[in-house]
Amino acid sequence: MLFKQQALLRQKLFVLGSLAIGSLLYLVARVGSLDRLQPLCPIDGRFGPRSQDEIPLRALQFKRGLLHEFRKGNATKEQIRLHNLVQQLPKAIIIGVRKGGTRALLEMLNLHPSVVKASQEIHFFDNDENYAKGIEWYRKKMPFSYPHQITIEKSPAYFITEEVPERIYKMNSSIKLLIIVREPTTRAISDYTQVLEGKERKNKTYYKFEKLAIDPNTCEVNTKYKAVRTSIYTKHLERWLKYFPIEQFHIVDGDRLITEPLPELQLVEKFLNLPPRISQYNLYFNATRGFYCLRFNIVFNKCLAGSKGRIHPEVDTSVITKLRKFFHPFNQKFYQITGRTFNWP
Ligand code: A3P
Repeated sequence: MLFKQQALLRQKLFVLGSLAIGSLLYLVARVGSLDRLQPLCPIDGRFGPRSQDEIPLRALQFKRGLLHEFRKGNATKEQIRLHNLVQQLPKAIIIGVRKGGTRALLEMLNLHPSVVKASQEIHFFDNDENYAKGIEWYRKKMPFSYPHQITIEKSPAYFITEEVPERIYKMNSSIKLLIIVREPTTRAISDYTQVLEGKERKNKTYYKFEKLAIDPNTCEVNTKYKAVRTSIYTKHLERWLKYFPIEQFHIVDGDRLITEPLPELQLVEKFLNLPPRISQYNLYFNATRGFYCLRFNIVFNKCLAGSKGRIHPEVDTSVITKLRKFFHPFNQKFYQITGRTFNWP
């Protein structure tokens, strides 16, 4: 009798356990497929050129997953036609500045449902060989997107390359241009650190930053050193202003994007006439990484690659002071032209 009761109890426990595990598995599967709750429905024109406000974020994120597949070349011509996908020329370009936080800016803007990023730096306008291939070649390098979305690319070399402003103007004279800047001396050291790492990877030796940044003959700042020249923002901007009015530029504070990204991104949303969609939910501070990382949804988040946020070598304070003094008048001019003031020393 006792044995029979125990067997019955075990059977009940087994049924309850199975139910619990089943429910758990169902929940996990459901969370994993949350993005798919809004099915793609090309027949009723759900993703046709209608107001971007109407599309729920999750649906757009699902679209992203789909677009990702398409970008990898997995889309058939039929799918592209059905989903009304197009490869659009960029409506906005992050033209620089190298080491200003261009990757972080692009990836963060890509959180916006109406933005689609060109993942690679395309170097169309700064590379003569690419430029000679023509605008159709450039367009074909763009990701597939829905017609209401805007494509953004970033190639930081554009900012400092002589021919680029005229070439971009010829493509689209009303394009929006984003420039992300950091305190010029820090940016120059970051630039140096990237080159140094490249040399070290190839087992090569390299000069110390101090030796490159200061001319040993004059003991003055070496303006021939590229990392120094790139940080003279106003000189480059002045070349751009021969083609575009200042209203077509938006200056992003790269130092603030590191510590407090959301307000900077909200300013960009406004500049691009996009509805505010990026929220604090999309950005979380990762203490191990020491930087903000991106949260697309409950299951998908990512931090930037380890090559972003390198530890800078220590630089002689007298060299830092000299550089800051050197950049000071150029910074003042930059504030004056752009209307954006920074607390740079
Ligand atoms: P450092 O490596 O000097 O720290 P770019 O993408 O233009 O090359 O800029 C790289 C810089 O982006 C990094 O410079 C880093 O400080 C900055 N950055 C800004 N936000 C970041 C983020 N969320 N994660 C990693 N790096 C970020």
